[in-house]
Amino acid sequence: MDLQGPINVLLIGSGGREHALALGLSRSPRLGTLYATGMSNPGIAALAQPIDVPVKRDELYRLSQFCDKHGVDLVVIGPEDPLAEGWADALRKRADGSERWIFGPGARGAQLEADKAYAKQFMRAASIPTAEGRIFDRQDHAEDYLKSRDEVYVIKAAGLAKGKGVIVPKTNEEGLEAIRSMMGKKAFGDAGKKILIEEMLTGTEVSVLALMDGKNILILPPCQDHKRLGNNDTGPNTGGMGAFCPAETVSDAVMRQLETDVFVAAADALRRDEIEFRGVLYAGIMLTPGGPKVLEFNVRFGDPECQPLLSRLESDLVELLVATASGRLDEADVRFSEQHAVCIVLASPGYPDSPETGKPITGVEDAEAIEGVTVYHAGTKLDEDGQLVTSGGRVLGVTALGETIEQARERAYQACAKIHFDGMQMRTDIAASATTRVS
Ligand code: AMP
Ligand code: GLY
Repeated sequence: MDLQGPINVLLIGSGGREHALALGLSRSPRLGTLYATGMSNPGIAALAQPIDVPVKRDELYRLSQFCDKHGVDLVVIGPEDPLAEGWADALRKRADGSERWIFGPGARGAQLEADKAYAKQFMRAASIPTAEGRIFDRQDHAEDYLKSRDEVYVIKAAGLAKGKGVIVPKTNEEGLEAIRSMMGKKAFGDAGKKILIEEMLTGTEVSVLALMDGKNILILPPCQDHKRLGNNDTGPNTGGMGAFCPAETVSDAVMRQLETDVFVAAADALRRDEIEFRGVLYAGIMLTPGGPKVLEFNVRFGDPECQPLLSRLESDLVELLVATASGRLDEADVRFSEQHAVCIVLASPGYPDSPETGKPITGVEDAEAIEGVTVYHAGTKLDEDGQLVTSGGRVLGVTALGETIEQARERAYQACAKIHFDGMQMRTDIAASATTRVS
């Protein structure tokens, strides 16, 4: 890429994923100034400059003016909510009418994540392999359909529900409960006005992410996430309790299949619908006995997948995100280390339903003293006395690199053992399946 000079970046979002993005960006010799909206996160605050205008959906023109005033060339949008709300569209135009680079799709592209009914229709139209599913906007029809079936189905709220809108029931009685809760009691508000009743798939779940710039597709090394709260995939679904990269259960043949059947098919369909998608498309994939099938699309990096993924990136993140946002992905230099990375999430007591916060955290520095370890902040803050305390459900993402997955895992757990806060929840089997797998 022949872009000259330092590049000023605005990063939107405040979680562990954005801390990993901030760290990657700050390591680039191409970075000018990094501005961030997520300054309550001490990990991000240590790397970025604050914004002196309100950061609000209905006052985005002020954020855009901030970008003009401070010469922001690239805006990186981390989370799904601002993408679904069209922040990419609102921040694209400079005052002089030219366009700045935005990493992340506009509102129409973000529908792939924000509306599961739309995503299901999109996949059907593009012949992308996915679970069979039916869309309902009436509770009585949804209940009648489920009552008429013998097999157990997955129930999904169509809209964004902070990762909680998918119920994988054990019986259809539980499924009926889920429909009543979503459509009758409005447990997820408007997100549950429409629901999907979907065939239950079985197999190993992997996260395959690709950068897309409207023309080119660059598939990133596959990751695996652990979504359930408890060991051996028990307990409720969460945003993710740990992840590792690369996920070697995905063979090269499957990766090639995903490239053509999922990513090229999606890119073609987006182009047909005249949706310019510049950012990352995340496919949650179930490796079923009948081949890989898409469980969901997200339009952003996964959290926590982003932490082990970017920990392995050796090439320049500023250049990579600019290349994506400017439609020049074919010119990008992308190199990942041969090392393995494992990220373990430390979560608050009560997570995911009602996390208790405000607990003092100790040991982060000791953890980071271990070779290969980076501790990403997610739900932490500094209190009035400057003490690091918990402030959200997922608190830290303890991430380690190693020559082998075993070494990465061992280092990550050694680092976790140094960290303490009251009621800390941690799975002890993150990446265990990868180390015991017979290949
Ligand atoms: P989603 O938000 O669609 O990824 O769903 C959250 C989690 O629910 C997924 O990561 C899977 O573990 C599970 N899930 C979603 N859809 C299905 C399905 N059709 N069959 C089995 N499990 C599913
Ligand atoms: N880790 C799953 C997600 O980001 O949706």
